[in-house]
Amino acid sequence: MSQQVESYDMYTKQHNMRKEVLDGLSQVHKILQAKYFYDQAGSELFEQITYQPEYYLTRTELDILYQHQTAIADCIGPVHTLIEYGSGSSRKIKSLLSSLHQLEAYMPIDISKEFLIQSAHQLSQDYPDLQIKAVCGDYSESLRLPIEDKLKKVIFFPGSTIGNFDPAEAADFFRRSSQLLEKGDGFLIGIDTKKEATVLHQAYNDEAGITARFNLNILNHINTSLGGTFDLALFDHVAFYNEEFGRIEMHLKSRIDQLVTVANQTFTFKQGETIHTENSYKYSIEEFQLLANQNGFTPVKYFTDAREHFSVHYLEKTR
Ligand SMILES: C[S@@+](CC[C@H](N)C(=O)[O-])C[C@H]1O[C@@H](n2cnc3c(N)ncnc32)[C@H](O)[C@@H]1O
Repeated sequence: MSQQVESYDMYTKQHNMRKEVLDGLSQVHKILQAKYFYDQAGSELFEQITYQPEYYLTRTELDILYQHQTAIADCIGPVHTLIEYGSGSSRKIKSLLSSLHQLEAYMPIDISKEFLIQSAHQLSQDYPDLQIKAVCGDYSESLRLPIEDKLKKVIFFPGSTIGNFDPAEAADFFRRSSQLLEKGDGFLIGIDTKKEATVLHQAYNDEAGITARFNLNILNHINTSLGGTFDLALFDHVAFYNEEFGRIEMHLKSRIDQLVTVANQTFTFKQGETIHTENSYKYSIEEFQLLANQNGFTPVKYFTDAREHFSVHYLEKTR
């Protein structure tokens, strides 16, 4: 294990998860928050998704990051600390680490603790001079991070993960993030763009069935963390593009009428009823720039691929 990885645990999982899962399953249209996909198995499954041929998002974003690494670094300027939300395997950060000017510290933040710590240690093998402060935390809440105010910070949020928030939640998220930053600090965000529904549909319905396993894993996570009785064989993965809302929706559809217990509460499922497990909002370049602008960030520059299938935006905090 490397010496330069410090870890901080700022996540009170048990209490939050119990309340949020029970609340979600008690709704007329049952919902679960996407963050509950991610226990160790969920993080590993997500990593497998990123290598599926249909899942163009990761390779397109990585191509953009590598192709424009110098321009991105110049746009950002000297930066002391790079914070990454939802860092997962910390694979994408490698496209920035060698080009960013004067970078001293990297702070990966993720809800999936073991995977986060593992990835931070792996990264430190390749970048022994980088200080790494791995924070297990939930970025959908306010976080008090162990960073110094005055030094320039940039938040990196790749993977179009911001698309898991609806536009009102994304606005709140910008406002919360803004509290961690000073004027002139930045945000580098990867956004999946609006495109033909078939391309989107295939990306979330890979032939190997990895996204289906990932979706179902949320039930496994609930079974192990909250004493749930979900039988995964009795639910089907469903993912489709909802044109009206500009989002991919993922659901788990009950195959039969059934009862499921979670944390000693019983829930009724009708055959065909779904649990809505994830939204992935897609944004045109202009829509995303407008969202950022309305929430305290000035779009400085964006980078995209030839087909505009994905975009990476650099934003600066303006107020
Ligand atoms: C879609 S994956 C993206 C992983 C990686 N950044 C990428 O671009 O390939 C989302 C990541 O965010 C983490 N995550 C999801 N919700 C979170 C939350 N509310 N707080 C902290 N981390 C979260 C997950 O554990 C996972 O690593």
